[in-house]
Amino acid sequence: MAEEITMAYVTEKTLTDVVRERWTDIPDARLRQVMTAAVKHLHAFVREIEPTSAEWATAIDFLTRTGKLCDEKRQEFILFSDVLGVSMLVDAINHRQQNGATPSTVEGPFHIADAPAVANGGNMAVDAPGIVCFVTGAVRGLNGEPLAGATLDLWQTDGDGLYEAQRPEIDGPWMRGLYRTQGDGSYLIRTVKPIAYTIPMDGTIGELMNRTNMSHMRPAHIHFAVEAPGYHGLVTHLFESGDEWINDDAVYGVKEPLIVAFKKMPAGSKAPSGEIMNEPFYVVDYDFVLERKAQAAAA
Ligand SMILES: [Fe+2]
Repeated sequence: MAEEITMAYVTEKTLTDVVRERWTDIPDARLRQVMTAAVKHLHAFVREIEPTSAEWATAIDFLTRTGKLCDEKRQEFILFSDVLGVSMLVDAINHRQQNGATPSTVEGPFHIADAPAVANGGNMAVDAPGIVCFVTGAVRGLNGEPLAGATLDLWQTDGDGLYEAQRPEIDGPWMRGLYRTQGDGSYLIRTVKPIAYTIPMDGTIGELMNRTNMSHMRPAHIHFAVEAPGYHGLVTHLFESGDEWINDDAVYGVKEPLIVAFKKMPAGSKAPSGEIMNEPFYVVDYDFVLERKAQAAAA
């Protein structure tokens, strides 16, 4: 009796279609879309590069070690997403309508929740190395309306280029603070001037960057998360104009409207806080513009 001839279940040629077909069996339409696209593009990637088994094991090991570096203060996967430009792509897709509002940019890997509240004009850089820097301006809506009680959550490097997560010897908080605007929408922050810094090079992403000729520097900047009730929240940076790395940001985060002057003031000048400063200092003047959330349609 002749043996029944069966088709091989999968071959190199048919495998992708077989897998995609199976991954369509997901009730959640969005998850189904995500997973079938993931299978499609991941298979295409593997077919293009044809990794050896050892190379694939290296990739798995890389991702494993990247995950093990992550904790509540360090986020190596965000850094990976940042240097691949994916963070900025997600940001761009999610913030297409700016209408004159301040543009967003990447959050980056260094934000720590629950920043300490600091009074208007208060110093968020007590004992930090660096040159004093005042940041002042207002938070407004698109029509110029001042937003009283808006919150500005700041985080940045100290004058040595280090974030809190990079100073394990310091029992934080360090170089971060939560400010609130006054009745006229104005705010006044006292900090130190950030400096250009290298992305963390002591982890897996550093290992990878070291095998490229790309810059791993970020131009000097201060991070802001600005929120006001009834308005879309804004996560952004202010970058120092004239910074050596302004056109070569390792995470592609610079947008033209976010480049600002850090005005250097000589010793003896009056600070925005009204005090006469004994040392040179910097002043940054910037108004953040938020977009109002769409009003619910009247019933
Ligand atoms: Fe940063």
